[in-house]
Amino acid sequence: MILSKKEQQRLKQAYGDWALITGASSGIGLALSELIASCNINVILCSRSEDKLHTQASRLKKTYAIDVKVIALDLSEAESIDLLIQQTQGLTISLFVASAGFGTSGNFLQSSIHEEVNMLRLNCEAVLRLTHYFMQHMVYRKKGGIILLSSIVAFQGVPYAAHYAATKAYVQSLAEGTQQEIKGMGVDVLAAIPGPVESGFGQRANMQMGTALNPEEVAKSILKAIGKSKSVLPGLLSKVLVNSLRTAPRFLRVKIMETIMKEFTKHQMG
Ligand SMILES: NC(=O)c1ccc[n+]([C@@H]2O[C@H](COP(=O)([O-])OP(=O)(O)OC[C@H]3O[C@@H](n4cnc5c(N)ncnc54)[C@H](OP(=O)(O)O)[C@@H]3O)[C@@H](O)[C@H]2O)c1
Repeated sequence: MILSKKEQQRLKQAYGDWALITGASSGIGLALSELIASCNINVILCSRSEDKLHTQASRLKKTYAIDVKVIALDLSEAESIDLLIQQTQGLTISLFVASAGFGTSGNFLQSSIHEEVNMLRLNCEAVLRLTHYFMQHMVYRKKGGIILLSSIVAFQGVPYAAHYAATKAYVQSLAEGTQQEIKGMGVDVLAAIPGPVESGFGQRANMQMGTALNPEEVAKSILKAIGKSKSVLPGLLSKVLVNSLRTAPRFLRVKIMETIMKEFTKHQMG
């Protein structure tokens, strides 16, 4: 899955010279790091898995002759955000991709509160702090792009993924609000809204999602959209589901999502 030369040039011009990608060791973040590197933009790869990040870094350096920096951190820890900010100082970051995130599923009452708080910190607090910091710098320089990973679950309550959906509603809302506030300031914010994607996500969330897009297709749709749209729904399923539910009353959307999520989690019911 490659970008056209024209797309690569557009992205390099708008978002060179460094991109920071969280969640770069797997799935959508990994695929985005490859496509961003192919635009000759230097990349900073961040997640917890140092070895995987170094393997990816070596490959990207060799393939695209760019600079690559690895920062291995657990972004659910507040001190790690400070460290990430410290370690990126001196680099001009014009593209920030917040792909680090995970989901949980099943009965809310039986969930581990430790795991749920951890997810809240990664999916929301880390996204908030890093978006706030890098957006300020980008607006000051009147140049940049921010890609936030929302989800098709972000638009109503979702039984059996209640708290995960709540974290994605937060991300979606943050993207929409900030887009409007910084309009005309030279910085693009994109809400990426995938449906099921084949990645490490399903296993960690304990969801069996059936048909799923591959991360490369998703990454390509996202990069083609940044700077042109406020949101992107990669793949047919996300378009059909989100657009067809748009006009349905909220209680009905919750019921429909309940049916879908019951299917994704039926293996948990024994
Ligand atoms: N897959 C889907 O169906 C789907 C659908 C809609 C939205 N999304 C969203 O898309 C984003 C990317 O998900 P994905 O599908 O690419 O899943 P993935 O393959 O599991 O990738 C998640 C990434 O986040 C990193 N990560 C997890 N915990 C972390 C932590 N505490 N600190 C730092 N990094 C951490 C992981 O790396 P390490 O394990 O190395 O830390 C990995 O690189 C997530 O925000 C997810 O909610 C996914």
